[in-house]
Amino acid sequence: MKLELSVSVVFVIFPTAILARWLGIPSVPFIESEANRTFSLKQLKYIIVDSKYQNAVNTEGETLIPPTLKSFASVFSDDLSSSLELSVPVRIGEAALPNSIFMTVGNASRYLDAAGRKTSEGYSIDITIYGIVITGASPLGAFWGTRSVLQQAALSDGMKLSLGSAIDSPGWAIRGVFLDIARHYYPSEFLIEMCSYLSFFKQNTFHLHLSDSPGLNPDLTYEEKMDFYSAFRLDSPDPAVKGLNKRANESYSQSDFENIQESCASRGVTIIPEIEAPGHALVINQWKPKLALDTDFTMLNISHPETIPDMQTIWSTFLPWFHSKTVHLGADEYQSTEITEYNLYVNTMHDYINKNFDKKVRIWGTFPPSEISNETNINLNVSIQHWEYFEANPYFDFIQKGYNVLNSDDQFYIVAKWSGSYPQTLNITRIFHGATDGGPTAPYIFDKVNATNNPPRDSPYVLGQMPALWNDFGPNSTSVIEAYYALREGLPALGDKQWGGDLLMDEYLSIFETLQAAIPGQNLDRRISSKTSIILSYDFSNNEKVYDKSGNGYDGEIKGDCMIESSILTLKTGCSVTTPLFSKGRNYTLSFSVKPTSPTPGTLFSGPASSLLAGNGSINNVMLITGGDAYILNYTLPLNVWADVRLIGIGNATYLSVTPSNSTMETVHEFTTTIGDYSNSFIWNNPMAIEAPVAVIGGDSFEGQMRNITLLNGADEKYVGFAKPLVIGVAPYT
Ligand SMILES: *[C@@H]1O[C@H](CO)[C@@H](O)[C@H](O)[C@H]1NC(C)=O
Ligand SMILES: *[C@@H]1O[C@H](CO)[C@@H](O)[C@H](O)[C@H]1NC(C)=O
Ligand SMILES: *[C@@H]1O[C@H](CO)[C@@H](O)[C@H](O)[C@H]1NC(C)=O
Ligand SMILES: *[C@@H]1O[C@H](CO)[C@@H](O)[C@H](O)[C@H]1NC(C)=O
Ligand SMILES: *[C@@H]1O[C@H](CO)[C@@H](O)[C@H](O)[C@H]1NC(C)=O
Ligand SMILES: *[C@@H]1O[C@H](CO)[C@@H](O)[C@H](O)[C@H]1NC(C)=O
Ligand SMILES: *[C@@H]1O[C@H](CO)[C@@H](O)[C@H](O)[C@H]1NC(C)=O
Ligand SMILES: *[C@@H]1O[C@H](CO)[C@@H](O)[C@H](O)[C@H]1NC(C)=O
Ligand SMILES: *[C@@H]1O[C@H](CO)[C@@H](O)[C@H](O)[C@H]1NC(C)=O
Ligand SMILES: *[C@@H]1O[C@H](CO)[C@@H](O)[C@H](O)[C@H]1NC(C)=O
Ligand SMILES: *[C@@H]1O[C@H](CO)[C@@H](O)[C@H](O)[C@H]1NC(C)=O
Ligand SMILES: *[C@@H]1O[C@H](CO)[C@@H](O)[C@H](O)[C@H]1NC(C)=O
Repeated sequence: MKLELSVSVVFVIFPTAILARWLGIPSVPFIESEANRTFSLKQLKYIIVDSKYQNAVNTEGETLIPPTLKSFASVFSDDLSSSLELSVPVRIGEAALPNSIFMTVGNASRYLDAAGRKTSEGYSIDITIYGIVITGASPLGAFWGTRSVLQQAALSDGMKLSLGSAIDSPGWAIRGVFLDIARHYYPSEFLIEMCSYLSFFKQNTFHLHLSDSPGLNPDLTYEEKMDFYSAFRLDSPDPAVKGLNKRANESYSQSDFENIQESCASRGVTIIPEIEAPGHALVINQWKPKLALDTDFTMLNISHPETIPDMQTIWSTFLPWFHSKTVHLGADEYQSTEITEYNLYVNTMHDYINKNFDKKVRIWGTFPPSEISNETNINLNVSIQHWEYFEANPYFDFIQKGYNVLNSDDQFYIVAKWSGSYPQTLNITRIFHGATDGGPTAPYIFDKVNATNNPPRDSPYVLGQMPALWNDFGPNSTSVIEAYYALREGLPALGDKQWGGDLLMDEYLSIFETLQAAIPGQNLDRRISSKTSIILSYDFSNNEKVYDKSGNGYDGEIKGDCMIESSILTLKTGCSVTTPLFSKGRNYTLSFSVKPTSPTPGTLFSGPASSLLAGNGSINNVMLITGGDAYILNYTLPLNVWADVRLIGIGNATYLSVTPSNSTMETVHEFTTTIGDYSNSFIWNNPMAIEAPVAVIGGDSFEGQMRNITLLNGADEKYVGFAKPLVIGVAPYT
């Protein structure tokens, strides 16, 4: 039953209990047992893992590497420390002790999904003056219970939880997000941080699109097509797939992929891998050009006798890497004159993967099954990920015919940075008010306008919901961190709806930032803890050591032969100053004074996410490099003149402000990118959001002097208006 509540705690008076609900993301049904009595997490001494279940695992989820109850408990213990600064060690025991959190597994029949079936992801929480008992339908259920405890503690004064109990379970089994990591590379660490982000909101699935290319102009020459950007992100030394991966430095080895899957699984998140074919297969045709369809070099010719065997070779190489029960064949946007071949491809691959590797298969909803012949239709065991009504109707074409369907409808389809037709961020209004009746969205709501196209809420064929973030415009249209910003506020809101929560938009907005700041296992905002808004301040007043004057103690360390004299740091090849910091996320101001003494290009600042350079190769334009791409300003620092420089990250834009000492005029330059493809417009001046590089000062061929380096949290509002206007024009290469 859905409760429409407008204030955070509303009481329906029962004779002995008070019905309430926890505001959390997702919301949690909660019954208060005694008004105004609480248990504070500050009283906690131990997490006690029920000895009977310490090694139990959930075998019903999508992952084949499910953590034990004990290992979930130890993640929880780490989280209590990192999010709430509580030190609560894990013990194994037979029963709760006073001031403990007891974690156990119990009566799985209590927890039902939206279709009324048992779910292993349910849990209960019982809070008394003695402590907390978390009972999961499985260890994963218990872990979701720990997320509720962390969230409620983060939201309450003094980490006090009301006495009472919660019984909670997800309405749908698949909850999470899709990310196109083919047309843009993301480092493993980023993907793992995203899993931590999802997990805090009880989202359990991260679907990764591993092979693709941006749209290919059919008019290009064969050589140009062979050279066009594409990627296959898994890199195996197996000779069977030699040459398939051409981007070793932007790929995942088996151990990288193992690490991603293990790290995500440790927080209850399963990686669903997708290798796309027979459409969007440029990377495969570049590997084996004879497999290409005559009419389209991005598509496979399924009738070629080697196509299916070669795809089986690829899958058999990588299937042993994957730890999910389901893998994704892609299979969207194929030639509509080749439906019979398409169905043959999907069914053959399904049988091959199912028989030899015991895995299930999913595809994007593409061609509706034909009424004429059931024999050539897609096997009913293949699940369908609906994305567009112009492809197929998820309810009539698939669900009513017995297919299981995952909802990735285009109402939550986003394209990074720019698109002629899709938005760039998840639409929060639509999450809370986007249903046909103006109510919230839910996984069974495929069509937001016409309810006739939606199955009932309790349809057992609805697998769940997942928004998709695509990188249509390729690697240089965004920085890595911009993928996070596209999802940052919307994805947790959808998390409430994917679970079946009943948060209202105002409630969500009132708790989001507080909860966001408490998410363990990630620092996607690239925050740096600081006593004041001045994070770091080096005035180089000491000739021997670099002291941080901010009060934060972020002292620098001199590497090599740098000279410091009269508050000036002199940089040259082989000398650098390292800080204990890495990157700073938006908003920030990194200010410094600099005097280049040689036109030789070189690095001013660097960090794991980005580098600020006074030139590169043969040019000495200022540039920011991130993810291997350079965003170059039409500006060169004046030689042998001091200039006050500020690198500013504000909102979605990044600027360089410069005031040379022989001038009183500040000039402001914006780091932007140009994007486009053959079939769309070409767009100039797209803003780039790039983190400040603050790990190393100097360190390569830059020669010159620096003084007064300051890193501030925040940026002057006056820069908001400095964004260059977008210019939309015609693609230069049509
Ligand atoms: C609980 O606290 C509220 C607000 O302080 C008060 O109005 C109410 O009477 C208390 N209820 C009980 C049962 O003590
Ligand atoms: C388990 O839960 C179900 C549903 O709430 C209930 O009917 C059943 O009695 C419970 N079993 C035990 C052993 O507690
Ligand atoms: C195909 O299968 C569907 C669902 O099982 C059934 O309703 C339909 O009659 C079948 N069509 C033919 C032509 O056999
Ligand atoms: C960047 O932010 C500005 C101001 O908030 C907004 O108008 C603009 O649409 C954003 N651009 C992109 C590409 O997100
Ligand atoms: C967000 O969604 C609402 C409801 O579907 C819609 O009215 C609105 O136009 C959308 N906003 C944007 C910017 O697309
Ligand atoms: C709603 O969907 C049904 C089924 O697809 C269709 O018959 C009907 O015309 C649609 N209604 C509107 C107003 O578009
Ligand atoms: C990977 O190497 C290629 C070719 O040298 C280069 O263009 C690209 O920027 C590199 N990528 C990264 C993330 O460093
Ligand atoms: C670079 O800036 C100079 C003046 O500062 C200007 O004349 C020139 O047109 C600019 N070049 C480009 C490509 O914008
Ligand atoms: C400042 O000095 C630079 C480098 O010598 C020179 O290019 C520039 O024209 C000077 N600017 C002014 C306003 O004198
Ligand atoms: C950054 O600045 C923009 C523009 O003033 C503002 O909208 C945004 O809230 C700021 N972000 C943070 C994290 O302060
Ligand atoms: C990004 O790539 C496109 C296509 O290769 C190119 O035209 C554009 O100049 C690049 N933009 C930047 C900022 O490098
Ligand atoms: C150092 O830089 C900060 C920030 O730009 C500025 O406020 C301060 O006046 C500068 N200090 C000196 C000694 O130049």
